[in-house]
Amino acid sequence: MSGTESNLPVTIAGTGSYLPEKVVTNKDLESLVDTTDEWITTRTGIKARHMAAEGEHTSHMATKAAERALEQAGIAPEDLDLIIVATITPDTLTPATACYVQQNLGAFNAVAFDISAACSGFLYAMKISSRLISDGAFKNALIIGAEKLSSFINWEDRTTCVLFGDGAGAAVLRAAEEGEGSIIATDIGTDGRQTHLLNIPGGGSACPTTTENAGQRLATLAMLGKEVFKHAVTRMRDSANLVIERAGLKPEDIKLVIPHQANLRIIDAIADRLAVPNDRVFVNLHKYGNTSAAAIAIALDEAHREKKFERGDHIILVAFGAGLTWAAAAVKW
Ligand SMILES: CC(C)(COP(=O)(O)OP(=O)(O)OC[C@H]1O[C@@H](n2cnc3c(N)ncnc32)[C@H](O)[C@@H]1OP(=O)(O)O)[C@@H](O)C(=O)NCCC(=O)NCCS
Repeated sequence: MSGTESNLPVTIAGTGSYLPEKVVTNKDLESLVDTTDEWITTRTGIKARHMAAEGEHTSHMATKAAERALEQAGIAPEDLDLIIVATITPDTLTPATACYVQQNLGAFNAVAFDISAACSGFLYAMKISSRLISDGAFKNALIIGAEKLSSFINWEDRTTCVLFGDGAGAAVLRAAEEGEGSIIATDIGTDGRQTHLLNIPGGGSACPTTTENAGQRLATLAMLGKEVFKHAVTRMRDSANLVIERAGLKPEDIKLVIPHQANLRIIDAIADRLAVPNDRVFVNLHKYGNTSAAAIAIALDEAHREKKFERGDHIILVAFGAGLTWAAAAVKW
């Protein structure tokens, strides 16, 4: 079959994740801002988050997660022909974090670039790379969600600093072989009318950091939490429902839903709306907080390694983030 005209099913051949060593608990934050473990736990479900060490960059965490995914997939770095890093906290504005990862891995046969779609970024990368493999343009893709959000947090703002954490997750995608599962349906979407709800206003070309504005900490996350919450529930519900329908699945066919890990109340609301019982919804945000593009990737790897699903099971991944962006995927493992 000609490479460019094929429509190959694409499988997830391996997953990996990495969390930096340092753990910051809610109790630790009590001494930093006017907050309590009780407030954070009841409003978000978060108990702790990991924080990268000084000198530990997004690309370092991405590389460690990638090495684990490659090992599980049994694919050597030189056999990769595509690397996509989803991140909103790149090492540098240019070159892309994916270029550093390519260098770290020695994956010099791969095209490498970043995408910026906030918490939906890993599923955006999954959609893009699976199409490129399906079309025959690429063979082995490494997709990574990696964030060092601790560098873009205002540690004096209690409304945001308690929510986020650092980490990375990765997956290796390739054409499915006989008997292997595949990515059955994907959905991605954007609503640029809501850019004001969640953003990092400074540090870009619109508002570069200067000596005059440095004290305002504009290069940190700003969010209208209540508004974001409402959009998150409806967009994730609709996106998940769309891929469930496209995949021809019913709620009882779904072994596990892996939602974006931002807030337990959002996750519960989605489980409710999808009519999937809570024990089939994966949650790890109590340990890591919201790691943006890394969250779904870390959760997928953890659920996989904990054998929460097996060959032949159907899982649903669904995410939501700044942009606003949203994305979902139905996968037969
Ligand atoms: C951020 C979020 C947890 C806040 O919860 P909430 O129930 O909406 O709380 P509110 O913002 O209304 O704040 C309630 C009160 O708690 C206070 N508060 C905010 N952060 C606090 C903290 N860390 N500790 C203690 N009190 C806090 C507020 O100042 C407010 O006080 P007030 O009533 O005296 O004004 C919630 O809105 C949320 O999770 N939104 C979605 C965020 C998200 O998912 N973002 C990422 C998308 S990818």
